[in-house]
Amino acid sequence: MGTLRKITKIVHIFAQSGNPSFHAAATHQPAKLFNNNHLFRFTAKLALFVTFASTPAWAAPPSFAKDVAPILAANCAGCHSGNVKMGKFDLGSFETLRTGGHSGPAIIPGKSGESLLYLRITGAALPSMPLNGNKLADAEIETIRQWIDAGAQPPAAAEAVATTTPAIPDIKPRAAVKALVGALAYRPDGKLLALGSFKEVRLVDPQTRQLLATLPGEAEDVRAVAFSPDGKLLAAAGGLPGRGGELRIWDVEKRALLHTIAGHADCIYAVEFAPDGASVATASYDKLIKLWNVATGKEIRTLKDHIDAVYALAFTPDGQRLVSASADRGVKVWDVASGERLYTLSESTDGLNALALDPSGKRVAAGGLDRTIRIWSLDQKSGVLLQSLIAHEDAILQLAWSPGGQYLVSSSADKEVKLFNAADLSVLKTWRQPDWALSLKFSPDGNTFAVGRFDGSFEVYPLGPAPGRDALGTGALSPASR
Ligand code: HEC
Repeated sequence: MGTLRKITKIVHIFAQSGNPSFHAAATHQPAKLFNNNHLFRFTAKLALFVTFASTPAWAAPPSFAKDVAPILAANCAGCHSGNVKMGKFDLGSFETLRTGGHSGPAIIPGKSGESLLYLRITGAALPSMPLNGNKLADAEIETIRQWIDAGAQPPAAAEAVATTTPAIPDIKPRAAVKALVGALAYRPDGKLLALGSFKEVRLVDPQTRQLLATLPGEAEDVRAVAFSPDGKLLAAAGGLPGRGGELRIWDVEKRALLHTIAGHADCIYAVEFAPDGASVATASYDKLIKLWNVATGKEIRTLKDHIDAVYALAFTPDGQRLVSASADRGVKVWDVASGERLYTLSESTDGLNALALDPSGKRVAAGGLDRTIRIWSLDQKSGVLLQSLIAHEDAILQLAWSPGGQYLVSSSADKEVKLFNAADLSVLKTWRQPDWALSLKFSPDGNTFAVGRFDGSFEVYPLGPAPGRDALGTGALSPASR
């Protein structure tokens, strides 16, 4: 798995583990978001202290379910369970934990010194674990050692549930994580910005940046948000990685939840309203695209042809076509009425994360792990590759096309946001980002665009001419004050 491919996985894993330290390591970022782990460590140490202080040395060895599993859940499950089994090592069950990954058994009962898992967590075997460099506390390592040396006993029958459900739910420190802004949408009147965050959507005034309301109760990270064309409804989507997608539809003015729809087998990564507002489309890690009736919340149909996660969606302005981009490298064009796949644009050499339609609906831009922005024409029966540019030094995360059609903006895992002239893909301006810009949208008037970041911040950048300056002239594009 190349670094680039990891990026997409990582974004997904993050959602899965709620552990930003993983992200930090995987992108070679300074480790700065560890507060959740510290909190956990503290709790864990406290628990161990209590255990040891009240337990004589000759008492029972650490229990897998009570002592060991929580350590693995908090520090390892993000990379070793669900959809992600790095090194083919799966903490999904006690059995697979014992079986180990591509190097064979991870645990030799009674022999910590020969157990790969122990060697990796002490650093005696490389690469040391957790891979994110966030070494386990000494007491945690000691707990695991004692458990292995005492025979690596499986959980007692009565405890089995806790270990075989290793998605190891609800590790409390998640709440302390600074929530990312994984999704953004402007209301069509431009006066409201929805930010998809951890377990909630925040409604902010894009001008004053003031928080106006919070729509709570989302399953996990909100990965996609969209306003209906009349601005009255908001669709917020996400779900529980590996377990299911969730789509919620809100009445924006009343801040009232209208529908909660569970419909995919995995997290939803894109949501778009059809231009007539009657239906909404979702795309998921489960490789499927689904169309939903907004009034009833019922599924209209499933569009099935991608062979990997689908990360981005757009309707053409006439509502007849839906365009999707997937980790399978393909951009697919669908007939909305029949659900039929019309054609696939397949020039990308690696998985795609993002797509953007030009406002006429005649061209589509897509980008992803191969760092390249490609623009195709969208014709009746096929599309033609018009332009291609290696735009960034790392995976492209998002793309947006300005409402006037002139500009294209991209964000990348190289932590840059770039503004291009859409006609020839020449770079007009680059903004360094403090963290990944996971979400990116133009304001409806095209004068500004907003980015939402992994670190929970968001920024609105003006595009239009500053007083006394030409459009895009020097200085006109400096970030808005925060
Ligand atoms: C940031 C992601 C990440 C985290 C967190 C992580 N691992 Fe890993 N782990 C990996 C990767 C990637 C590999 C494969 C690399 C290799 O072995 O060369 C791996 C491999 C392993 C292997 C070897 C599997 C085999 O058979 O080769 C073991 C054992 C392991 N990890 C245990 C752990 C334990 C225990 C934790 C928690 C304390 C942990 N890992 C946390 C990414 C991670």
